[in-house]
Amino acid sequence: MDIRIIEQNVEDMQCDALVVGVAYKKAGLQAKELILAGKAAEVDSLLGGLIQAVYDDGEFKAELGELITLHSMGKLAAKRIVVVGLGAQEKMHTQSIRRASAIASRHLQQTGAYQVALALHSDEWNMNLHNGVQAEIEGALLGLYTFHKYKQASTNENGLGISSINLLANSRNDAILDLAVDHGIALAEATNFARDLVNEPPNILTPTELANRASAMAKQFGLECEILDRPEMQELGMGGLLGVAQGSVEPPKFILLRYRGAPQSEDKGIALVGKGITFDTGGISLKPAEGMHEMKGDMAGAAAVIGAMYAIAALKPAINVTALVPTTENMPGGTAYRPGDILRIMNGKTIEIVNTDAEGRLVLADALSYAVKEGLSPIIDVATLTGGIVIALGSVMSGIFCNEVELSKEIIAAGQVAGEKFWPMPLDDEYKEAIQSDIADIKQTGGRYASASTAAKILEQFIGDAQWAHLDIAGTDFINTKKPYQEYGATGVAVRTLAEFVLRRVK
Ligand code: BES
Ligand code: MN
Ligand code: ZN
Repeated sequence: MDIRIIEQNVEDMQCDALVVGVAYKKAGLQAKELILAGKAAEVDSLLGGLIQAVYDDGEFKAELGELITLHSMGKLAAKRIVVVGLGAQEKMHTQSIRRASAIASRHLQQTGAYQVALALHSDEWNMNLHNGVQAEIEGALLGLYTFHKYKQASTNENGLGISSINLLANSRNDAILDLAVDHGIALAEATNFARDLVNEPPNILTPTELANRASAMAKQFGLECEILDRPEMQELGMGGLLGVAQGSVEPPKFILLRYRGAPQSEDKGIALVGKGITFDTGGISLKPAEGMHEMKGDMAGAAAVIGAMYAIAALKPAINVTALVPTTENMPGGTAYRPGDILRIMNGKTIEIVNTDAEGRLVLADALSYAVKEGLSPIIDVATLTGGIVIALGSVMSGIFCNEVELSKEIIAAGQVAGEKFWPMPLDDEYKEAIQSDIADIKQTGGRYASASTAAKILEQFIGDAQWAHLDIAGTDFINTKKPYQEYGATGVAVRTLAEFVLRRVK
């Protein structure tokens, strides 16, 4: 994909399609009024007031993501103009730009456009230029993402594909724009890298393959990469990861990626921990068949932190960050761990197993203990941990559990910039009562009620004195419907939030 910033007047912009954005505002109690700002206003006047007329006719209401295509018939060098709605001006946010850009790009990809010019951002929108332009580029690249590598080329897709994106700007020599475009590309590519990992089928993306891909990415960007195998896990006493892995013929891996952006600093830096269950059958406590195939996505937390490292390595902030990924399958079988077993985690604590389907907390317990031992703080873990969070928040928001209000606010704010929503969930100490065990230090599960909180309480037993946040993405990692801004499958959730969080720590 060829992406550049181009300084060109609207009239002479040669392309298959030029995308402009329009919003509306309230005018009195009932009435609404179209807002034609920036390039949209220029296009409207070149077309003799056509956008305004289409709005006045009620054919186009400028709601977020609504599209209308106008053919320029020689009045502009662009063949087509796609006008995309940005919604109500007072609700407008960088996420409106990201969504609108994704929807327009996706639509154009499916309707035979190759060269696209984007002009959605405008000084008149109430947002920082950097964030607006970044969201515009991100949106386009996220919207264009497909995962068709296992489909034979179908006639229906032949010849489709956007090859160039030009961002129409008032000046080409603007350092803010250059930086914003670079950030947009890095964050979208990192998200799409994570989406590929999640979308890969579990027969291909085994723990070994996940480690190989992380290590190839590390090599490409000059990150340090270390992969621990079973003997090293045994030496470290990683009883959680080893216990879960014991039913699988696929060897478990513990992936470490290190980015040293501040080599002189005393601060060991941030830990990003991701749950890497490449397939979760539930183990001996087997899951029902319905929907089980979606459990290939149980490594979405791992994909998120590896994807975040991709973005961090590409953008090079002056800060240290380590990613830790415990990865294994959770399989039933003659050698599998059982309900009733007691496992000893790396930090010495024992856990009484009651349901082998609650495997995520066990592998994370070892990874969190490892991060604590390395002196990393804050520690942010990302996991498709509980069905409970899906019941509570659905696919709209991810849950955030945090032992520091300020850290929680910081992550939620990074999420807002990234276009990802996190909702604070409780870690109240009374939830600990449910995980008391008579024969081990803790019991593995706290029952059906508040299961997302009791799971988080278990993780909390392994974070020592570190500042810590746990992101439960079980409902947000995957969509099983097609959306106009995204195809069926992995969302790459949390990649951009984690990357923004890290970048904002340096600013
Ligand atoms: N990977 C699942 C959680 C999950 C559920 C992810 C739905 C995505 C969609 C996790 O390992 C799990 O099975 N959790 C169980 C734990 C229970 C047995 C204590 C749950 O939350 O139901
Ligand atoms: Mn499970
Ligand atoms: Zn799981």
